[in-house]
Amino acid sequence: MANFSKRLKTNVEGNFFVDSTCIDCDTCRQLAPSTFVEDGDFSVVYHQPWSTEEELAAYQALIACPVGSIGTSKKNPKIFSKAHASFPLPIENGVSYAGFNSEKSFGANSYFIQHPNGNWLVDSPRYLKHLAQAFEERGGIQYIFLSHQDDVADAARYAKTFGATRIIHQNDSSAMPDAEWIINGEDTVQIEPEFICIPVPGHTAGSMSLLYNHRYLFSGDHLWWDRDLNQLGTPENLVWDDEQLERSIRKILNRPFEWVLPGHGERIHLPWHAMKSAVEQLILRRWNFTPSQI
Ligand code: SF4
Ligand SMILES: [Fe+2]
Repeated sequence: MANFSKRLKTNVEGNFFVDSTCIDCDTCRQLAPSTFVEDGDFSVVYHQPWSTEEELAAYQALIACPVGSIGTSKKNPKIFSKAHASFPLPIENGVSYAGFNSEKSFGANSYFIQHPNGNWLVDSPRYLKHLAQAFEERGGIQYIFLSHQDDVADAARYAKTFGATRIIHQNDSSAMPDAEWIINGEDTVQIEPEFICIPVPGHTAGSMSLLYNHRYLFSGDHLWWDRDLNQLGTPENLVWDDEQLERSIRKILNRPFEWVLPGHGERIHLPWHAMKSAVEQLILRRWNFTPSQI
């Protein structure tokens, strides 16, 4: 629970506020960009919600915040309950953002995929009975895809609840040593007809992306959208091996996809040719190549 006595002075006056326990994970800015903005090492409220839609989004951010840093002077129980019940939040075609980001993964996003042959959880939210119930109502979880060692959070608990198969790369498997499916090497692995697991070492030795239906790339901390620069981003500092990272970005260049759904950073939807161009631009920029070197 946010503490009013720790309220950051940089919040605008009004009902919603962020306190000084904020870990600057970006979740609230993704969910309610018209209310929250980055200010130094924190998020703050720069504009109080004025419409019901904005208020709902601000409550969704309050609920998703991994460390409970967002508070209100006076809670609106009706909108709060609506926000609480809204997770997992649909994106499109059975793909949802799970919400309830976990401090254990520094507030990384996780996703739920509803599929007739069995549902998937991509990385893990906090374990909450309410969320487990929501997954149950949608048919449970068959696979838990772990993009890398940083974002396993409460995956073991969800796996136990649903008898799910956890998938992780061997090089990051110390984070989930009893995972049911360990991926080895750098070859892509077809897990189910529409699900391709792509090892993308770079950020960590065992980073992987999941490509679903040639449309959705769940990219962990390997690739994301930078909304300030309006371009794709990849790690600059938290890099295990930069040459491997470059190879891994090139690896996805010729795979058609239209969505990037990251652990950290903004998600993005672009037509596939625009996405391919954005990946090319990323390679040129990040490694100072000329177009002939693509
Ligand atoms: S979601 Fe919470 S921890 Fe993350 S940036 Fe917002 S206030 Fe800070
Ligand atoms: Fe990470």
